[in-house]
Amino acid sequence: MTTPLSPASESLIATGRRCYVPNYQPREVILERGQGSRIWDADGNEYIDLGCGISVNSLGHQHPALVAALREQSGKLWHTSNIYFNEPAVRLAETLVDSTFAQRVYFCNSGAEANEAAIKLARKFASARGVPAEKRTILTFTGSFHGRTMATVTATAQPKYHSGFEPLPPGFRYCPFNDLDALDEHLTSDTCAVLVEPIQGEGGVMPAADGFLAELRRRCDALGALLILDEIQCGMGRTGKLFAYEWEKHLVPDIVTMAKALGGGLPLGATLVGEKAADTMQFGSHGSTFGGNPVMCAVARAAFHEINDSGLLDDVIRQGNTLQARLERTATEIGVIERVRGRGLMLGATLLPNWRGKAGDIVERCRHHGVLILQAGPDVLRFLPPLNINDQDLQHGLDRVEQALRELM
Ligand SMILES: Cc1ncc(COP(=O)(O)O)c(C=O)c1O
Repeated sequence: MTTPLSPASESLIATGRRCYVPNYQPREVILERGQGSRIWDADGNEYIDLGCGISVNSLGHQHPALVAALREQSGKLWHTSNIYFNEPAVRLAETLVDSTFAQRVYFCNSGAEANEAAIKLARKFASARGVPAEKRTILTFTGSFHGRTMATVTATAQPKYHSGFEPLPPGFRYCPFNDLDALDEHLTSDTCAVLVEPIQGEGGVMPAADGFLAELRRRCDALGALLILDEIQCGMGRTGKLFAYEWEKHLVPDIVTMAKALGGGLPLGATLVGEKAADTMQFGSHGSTFGGNPVMCAVARAAFHEINDSGLLDDVIRQGNTLQARLERTATEIGVIERVRGRGLMLGATLLPNWRGKAGDIVERCRHHGVLILQAGPDVLRFLPPLNINDQDLQHGLDRVEQALRELM
């Protein structure tokens, strides 16, 4: 069990509570140092990290290749603006174009910005084809999460994120997720783009049903609408393929948005654009001061190489199977978990009726047992371990989760 907070930690937490805008409720702990899949707090407690800062530190902490890339680039050049080229950004764009469906890449700083760019691009694409503004609706799905800017929070089809921020921008429509019949009503000639997560993350680790994305592709093609996949949480190797959509055979999206693990732990987002819409955004149409920052891009390229070109993806599938089997065994042995869903190393454990609403408490109890996991809403425990976690750390982490769950009984 973790030790009580020291007076110094208590004082720092009190200062954080006093000075931060209270939009977050950080746990009562100060994380100080990480190495591989382990993190230590300011009071010397050690944790196994099965959450990766919400799918960000996907290669663990202080990965040597990422540290080397950071050291090298930070000793050369930190920022250029987009008035000039810089080599790390050009090389990362080239890597993404050469390794994916994309013909062009736009860099920004976060997931919300990557989606914001995708939404603007879809509207511009329709506008350039003479589609009137009232027919440029973006269709999204119940349970989705696409960000917190005004457009992306409106795209997020969960009313709890909208409350108090009205008036919301027009031009978004929501459809039940995984409901093919509902598409007839919602995916109409007024739709200029569909924005969808192949596995909903914040919405409870809910995968798109087999064939759902393919049906969206088919209907988008019939209407001339763009298919935008939000791979911000489920991409970058998390499911055992570079992108989660690749599990759906022969699917080719028009746009894919990336962030989180893309920067290897540093803030970087990207909007990947396929052939159809590649030249939509012309000079002056969109931009970001920090987008394509050389330090972020140098680290991101090292991370991309480690994830995509080193055989790691096969291990993600192996470790994902181990994690799933272990959670299913825990579900059978201890009556807290109902079922396990997701893919690769993006798994959600839904809670049995008695425990629904308690995911946050369970996550905190796990922390006291030395393991960091996440919730996805009040009813789902979410597991997003480092893609390169070793067998021993994964087993130890899950032992600690099991101890925490047993204590509840
Ligand atoms: C699927 C998805 N899209 C978009 C976002 C927003 O990303 P950011 O917080 O970097 O703006 C998130 C963040 O959790 C996400 O999970």
